[in-house]
Amino acid sequence: MTADLLLGLQWGDEGKGKIVDVLTSKYDIIARFQGGPNAGHTLEFDGIKHVLRTIPSGIFHKKSINIIGNGVVMDPVVFQKEIEGLQKFDIDVQSRLLISRKAHLILPTHRLLDAASEASKGKAKIGSTLKGIGPTYMDKTGRNGLRIGDIELADFKERYNTLAEKHIDMIKFYDVDLQYNLAEMEAEFFAAVEELKKLTFIDSEFYLNQALKEGKSILAEGAQGSLLDIDFGTYPFVTSSTTTAAGACTGLGIAPNKVKDVFGIFKAYTTRVGSGPFPTELFDEIGETMAKVGNEFGSVTGRARRCGWLDLVALKYAVEVNGVTALYMMKGDVLSGFDTLKVCTAYSYKGEEIDHLPYNIEAENVQPIYVEKKGWKQDLTGLTSYDKLPDELKEYIEFIEEYVGVPIKVISVGPDRKQTIMK
Ligand code: GDP
Ligand code: IMO
Ligand code: MG
Repeated sequence: MTADLLLGLQWGDEGKGKIVDVLTSKYDIIARFQGGPNAGHTLEFDGIKHVLRTIPSGIFHKKSINIIGNGVVMDPVVFQKEIEGLQKFDIDVQSRLLISRKAHLILPTHRLLDAASEASKGKAKIGSTLKGIGPTYMDKTGRNGLRIGDIELADFKERYNTLAEKHIDMIKFYDVDLQYNLAEMEAEFFAAVEELKKLTFIDSEFYLNQALKEGKSILAEGAQGSLLDIDFGTYPFVTSSTTTAAGACTGLGIAPNKVKDVFGIFKAYTTRVGSGPFPTELFDEIGETMAKVGNEFGSVTGRARRCGWLDLVALKYAVEVNGVTALYMMKGDVLSGFDTLKVCTAYSYKGEEIDHLPYNIEAENVQPIYVEKKGWKQDLTGLTSYDKLPDELKEYIEFIEEYVGVPIKVISVGPDRKQTIMK
C-alpha cells in the first residue's frame, strides 16, 4: 500500500484540520509529520469546534490510528491540555494515539529562548507563536535535544538539567528583560511528562512501514504551510521545519516511492499571521471584509491574520515543490459578495514582469500584477453539489486549475465537515 500526503500551500491555516477529518474514514492511519504546538488545526462537526495542536486530526474517528511522527516537536504541557480537552468526547486516546520515541521534546526553557530571541530582534522579529519551536529544532539539528524516548531513561532528569542549565546561560546572553518563574514551569512540565508516559511510545518508522506492508493506508498530515518551509518559504520569516512534501518522508520514515497522492490545501484568497513579506496583502476595506467574514484570527495565538488576494505565482511554486496531485480549495464562501476578485498572475520584479517566485519578495522588490475575475453574490454555505455553484465561481476555479496545471477536487464552503463539495 502507499501513503498520501496532505499539506498547506500558503502560509498556514488553510483548513488542513477540516480536510484531514473529512478524509479520515478512507484511511487506517493518520500521521503528523512535523511542527508542533505552533499548529492549530480546527475541526467542526455536530455543532462543536475543536482545535488540535499536536494530535492528528483523525482522532475523532473510531477506526483510525493516529501517530505523532518523529519529525514533530512536542510540548508535554500543551499536549496534556489537548488530551484534557478531548476527555469529554469519550475518545479512547490510549489505544488510538501512538507517539514516536524519536519526536523531540519542547522544554520550558525552549519557550523562554523563543521569547528572548524574539524580544532581542525588536521590529525584525519573526512573529513566532512563542511555543519554543525554533529553539527545539535548533537543539535537534545541533544534536543536543531530548526526545520522547529519553523520558523512559533512568537519567532523564539529569539530561534535562544539563540542557536546561545551558539554556539559562543562553537566555542571559540575549540581554532582554524576561520575567519568568522557572520552578513553576518545570513543576508543570514534569507533571505533564508523567501523564505523557501513560501513552504508548513506538518506533514509528517501523510501525508505519509494517502497516504499509500489511496493505494499510496512511494519510500524512502536514502543519504550517509551504511558504513557511525552512528551505522554500519566505526565509527568515518561516518556521523551523520542512513543511513541504519531503518533510513527510523525513518526519515519518516513509520512503518517497511509497508516496502516492499529494493533496494541496489552499484558501480561495491568502492569509498570513506573523511577520514577513506578503505581496498580495490588502490594507483596505476589502482585506478587512475578508478578515471579518473569514473570521481570520489565529487558532493558537488569537492574532489577527493579514489578508489578501489569491497569489497564483506563489501557489504554482508550492504545487511544484510538493508535487501536488490534487488541490482542495477552502473558504470559497468568504469571497461571496465582491463585485470583482483579483488574482495575482505575475510579479513586477525590479521593473520586470516575472511569473516565478524570486529570491527576494519584499514589497520594495515585488509588486503583484493582477487579473480581474467577476465575483458572485450567492451565499455558498448551504450548497452541496458542484453543479449548483455560481458560474463565476466555476470560472474562478477553472482559471486556477489552468494556471497551476492541477485539478481542484474539493471546494469547501464553510467550516463544518458537511460543508464540503466534491467535484
Ligand atoms: P489549519 O491550521 O490549516 O487546520 O487551519 P485553521 O484551523 O488554523 O484555520 C482555518 C479556519 O477556517 C478554521 O477556523 C476553520 O474552522 C475555518 N474553515 C475551514 N474551512 C472553511 C471554509 O470552507 N469556509 C469557512 N468560512 N471557514 C472554514
Ligand atoms: P497551522 O498548522 C499559521 C507562523 C508564525 C510565524 C512563523 C514562525 O495551524 O497552519 P514558529 O512558532 O513556528 O516559530 O513561528 O510561522 N506559523 C503559523 N502560521 N499557521 C500555522 O500552523 C503556523 N505555525 C507557525 O505565525 O510567522
Ligand atoms: Mg491553523
